[in-house]
Amino acid sequence: PAPGWSIAADVVVVGSGVAGLTAALRCEAAGLDTVVVTKARLDDGSTRWAQGGIAAALGEGDTPEQHLDDTLVAGAGLCDEQAVRLLVTEGPDAVRRLIATGAHFDESEEGGLELTREGGHHRRRIAHAGGDATGAEISRALVEAVRARGLRTIENALVLDLLTDAEGRTAGVTLHVMGEGQHDGVGAVHAPAVVLATGGMGQVFSATTNPSVSTGDGVALALRAGAEVSDLEFVQFHPTVLFLGADAEGQQPLVSEAVRGEGAHLVDAGGTRFMLGQHELAELAPRDIVAKGIMRRMQEQGAEHMYLDARHFGADMWEHRFPTILAACRAHGLDPVTEPIPVAPAAHYASGGVRTDSHGRTTVPGLYACGEVACTGVHGANRLASNSLLEGLVYAERIVADIAAAHAENGLRARVPQPVPYDEQPAHPLLAPEARFAIQRTMTEGAGVLRSEASLATAAAALDRLHAEARDALAENGKTAEPGVDTWETTNLLCVARVLVAAARLREETRGCHWREDHADRDDTDWRRHIVVRLDPDRT
Ligand code: SIN
Repeated sequence: PAPGWSIAADVVVVGSGVAGLTAALRCEAAGLDTVVVTKARLDDGSTRWAQGGIAAALGEGDTPEQHLDDTLVAGAGLCDEQAVRLLVTEGPDAVRRLIATGAHFDESEEGGLELTREGGHHRRRIAHAGGDATGAEISRALVEAVRARGLRTIENALVLDLLTDAEGRTAGVTLHVMGEGQHDGVGAVHAPAVVLATGGMGQVFSATTNPSVSTGDGVALALRAGAEVSDLEFVQFHPTVLFLGADAEGQQPLVSEAVRGEGAHLVDAGGTRFMLGQHELAELAPRDIVAKGIMRRMQEQGAEHMYLDARHFGADMWEHRFPTILAACRAHGLDPVTEPIPVAPAAHYASGGVRTDSHGRTTVPGLYACGEVACTGVHGANRLASNSLLEGLVYAERIVADIAAAHAENGLRARVPQPVPYDEQPAHPLLAPEARFAIQRTMTEGAGVLRSEASLATAAAALDRLHAEARDALAENGKTAEPGVDTWETTNLLCVARVLVAAARLREETRGCHWREDHADRDDTDWRRHIVVRLDPDRT
């Protein structure tokens, strides 16, 4: 449909997690007229759910160089070292600026930041808030700052497509807005700079730590716009997600790595610590190694889950240090003070995404990406725990510096390009919302923690069938599912799932969080490289 309303701005930020709101606040500070659009409410994204914290070399004796080393090891040979270097060197000050914006982190008795450890970190370098409610505090502080500074925001606004001008430059986005007064229905924000900060795609799997809004909208938009997307096969499965049954679906409660960082043990049903001897860091090995250790033990024993034992923390420590996890366990009838917690891996983080350079620029001029939607190169084949909030902060700031420099040089407002009218853009076959569950089941069965050519080929065929049905209905009788938020989300899930499966089939090796049963080893001869995908916008 053609947009029913439109507004203009210098910059439109799509998404309202740590990356989006940091970008918006810095844009405002740089004098750029900015609009934030977000799919649900401002604090509904993944940031709010982050528990463990934010990693940065803030502790005595720690250095960005050590943080770099740990990040490169976790990334299993595929990190962009320069991108990591920017992350770890700019990270400490970015955290200090976040604190200046109003986020309160937990402090030690001596008054400095209290730092914890997580998987893959050789030092205590994770700052946290409210014990295990770091994301909630960051989200609170950023939302309050955005409101206090009077930034324009449009909530309940699902981004549909990128608008481009005749030269292929970014010209804004179209949106589907539900019930936001003057901006209701399909509309457009015209802007020469678009910052995608839409988060991840965990909902592509049946069980995930991600909230229901994480449906890969930004990656799907970027693919439709002809931008390059990279590393989608690297989906990180968090090792310790509260196990609520083999058929549990949707968002599942996370049990932070910080619980292991403070000394919890992974044990099997017989009480044996099976990570000992598998890695020098045992339970605190990088996340992919722990997830694989758990899966192997589950396979060997025919078990549906393993256990995390932190009874020795005692009630006081549980209540003060991990109140969120304690409450989640108790809500499900489990008491970690007196019993081990049943845990199993579940989809957690997309290490890949829209490919960017060190300023967050994608391959479409004027389109930027930061946060989980982006692939800046810092995560490689496996993200180091608690580097994601940091990446959102650092790269949002780098993007705004780039936009502000372009503004100072040319004046963004003066050259707001004319977008190609929306109804001249190619029509997309839309998928009925009921297909969401079929996509999720297909992905969990075929492209989950353990993959093989056979499982991936089955998944690809099922996804292709869904796509073909929608495409043929549109081509043959102009019919498509009723446009709406659920329909678009399902369409986006299918789009990213197909690319993810294609990339996972291509990568015939096991590396980081990509685990192929039929190619069990890492292959540095052929596969120390990235899979980059760019779709032909006329053939999506
Ligand atoms: C956690 O608290 O375990 C999650 C941290 C992360 O995903 O970086």
